[in-house]
Amino acid sequence: MLHLTENSQLGGQAIRRVVYSAEAIQARVEELAADLSRTYTAADRLLMVGTLKGSFVFLSDLVRAIDLPLHVDFVLASSYGAGKVSTGEVRFLYDPSAEMKGRAVVLVEDIVDSGATLNRLIPRLGAREPTSLEVCTLLHKHLAPVDQEPRWVGFDAPDEFLVGYGLDYAEDFRHLPYIASL
Ligand code: IMP
Ligand code: MG
Repeated sequence: MLHLTENSQLGGQAIRRVVYSAEAIQARVEELAADLSRTYTAADRLLMVGTLKGSFVFLSDLVRAIDLPLHVDFVLASSYGAGKVSTGEVRFLYDPSAEMKGRAVVLVEDIVDSGATLNRLIPRLGAREPTSLEVCTLLHKHLAPVDQEPRWVGFDAPDEFLVGYGLDYAEDFRHLPYIASL
C-alpha cells in the first residue's frame, strides 16, 4: 500500500521513487531494537533522546520494540530551514530536561547528512555526563566523516533528498509510512 496519490504531490513536489518500503523499515527497526536490547541492561537506566522533528516516527517504533525499561526525551536542533541543502548552522530550540548523569544515553537521529547536527549535539549531550553516549540513526548518507560515528545505522542511504517516515520537505511528507526520494 503506497498511497502515491494525493500524498505524492504535496507542496508541488512529486515523489520520484520509493527507496525503503514500510515493511523493509519495520524489519530493520526490529533488528536495531533487538541489538539495543542486548547491549543495555535495566541497570543502565537507558534514556533515548530523539532529534525533533525528523526522528519522531522512528523513535516511536524503535522504543516500542525495545525490551528494556527506558525513558524518552527529545532535543530540537534545527539546521535545515525549508530548503534541501544543509545550512551547516544548528540552532537549539529545545534541550532535554531529563537527568543524564549515570545513565546510558542513545541519541536517535532520522538521518545523518552533513553531520553538522551530530557534531554539535554530541558534545552538548556529553557535557551532561552520561555513563555512555551512542548514536542510533535510521539513515546515514556517509557524505563526510562525523566526530562520533553512529553505533547503529538502519540504512546506508543514497545521496538523494529523502522524505517520509518522519523526514520532511518544508514540513510535507512526514506522515508517509515509507521513505521516498524527491
Ligand atoms: P545534517 O546536520 O546535515 O547531518 O542534517 C541533519 C538534519 O537535516 C536531519 O536530521 C534532517 O532533519 C535534515 N535532513 C538531512 N538530509 C535530509 C533528507 O534527505 N531529507 C530530509 N531531511 C534531511
Ligand atoms: Mg527536517
